[in-house]
Amino acid sequence: MSHNNSGKKFNVFNLFRDLTKFYFILYLLVLSFIVFLGAKYVKTLDYNKLFYAKELLAADTNMRVTLPLKKGSITPPVDVAKLSIPTPELLAKGKDIYNASCASCHGETGAGNGPAGAALNPPPRNFVNPQLWKNGPKISQMYITLQEGIPNTGMASFSTIPPEDRFAVIQYVHTFNLSYPKDTPEDLVMLDDKYSLKNGVKMANQIPLGLAIDLEMLDYDTLKADLNNAVQSFENDLKSKKDTSALILNEIVSNKNKALVSLAGNTKWKESPEEFTKFLGTDPLDKGFKATVYQLSPEKINQIYSYLKNLFTKSRA
Ligand code: HEC
Repeated sequence: MSHNNSGKKFNVFNLFRDLTKFYFILYLLVLSFIVFLGAKYVKTLDYNKLFYAKELLAADTNMRVTLPLKKGSITPPVDVAKLSIPTPELLAKGKDIYNASCASCHGETGAGNGPAGAALNPPPRNFVNPQLWKNGPKISQMYITLQEGIPNTGMASFSTIPPEDRFAVIQYVHTFNLSYPKDTPEDLVMLDDKYSLKNGVKMANQIPLGLAIDLEMLDYDTLKADLNNAVQSFENDLKSKKDTSALILNEIVSNKNKALVSLAGNTKWKESPEEFTKFLGTDPLDKGFKATVYQLSPEKINQIYSYLKNLFTKSRA
């Protein structure tokens, strides 16, 4: 009953035949692996052509372009009383966050003279010599500013900064002017209650655009078609100069391709002018827009909104 080699009489020809079979299968395996790698390589090339520059693959769908991938989670309970006392560790952490996220507008020394803030009206708050406050200078008040932003100004919401880090950066801002008023225990209790900080805070998911495509959360072909058509139509409208919306859009864009990639990778902004305003107002510089987006009137925002919605639906026709 045995059909294997051990049952056969030793024969050089049999051995030769078996070895050939073995090498043939190995050859097929290697060949298919090469074809597989080749297909992957072609896809990579296509990505590069689509995004014009590799670093754009790191652009973020969830608006916070420069932030890493993060799973949404509940932060540990926040001890407001403890975080209201500036420790050297808290201040060191706060300084890092300030320099990374705030100094571009508020200036490294807090004087409100950062390069990205120069074009803003109203200008970024000067933390050394503050003129007037909308929410106020106390920890509990600045926390609200970071959570909600100051509507219709360059001060966007920084709700993606976890609560503890927010206390750290606020404490650091307080080192710019030692006469800032202190929070009363009641202020702190009110803050705690307002955002139920002692229960921990829910943080949103963050997903970089390139990864979203790889995970097929975004459809690559649709994205590519949308983008190519949008780029084409936008260029045509700019050339013909007939559509004023295209010209207004061009004014607030610092990097055309990056801006259109950010728009193509996000669908939320299409829901309403309010969502679109939120999209524009969160990290505009990272998304290929200029800081002057904050100076757009509601009418102009509406105009650009309709134009872009049309631009990104044309491709589906
Ligand atoms: C894109 C520019 C920009 C960035 C980045 C920025 N801000 Fe602002 N910020 C502003 C502008 C503009 C105002 C003034 C708003 C106003 O006068 O209504 C402001 C105002 C403020 C105020 C005053 C709010 C009040 O009660 O009047 C605080 C506090 C503040 N920012 C904190 C921060 C912190 C902390 C960061 C970093 C995590 C930050 N900002 C990043 C532009 C910016």
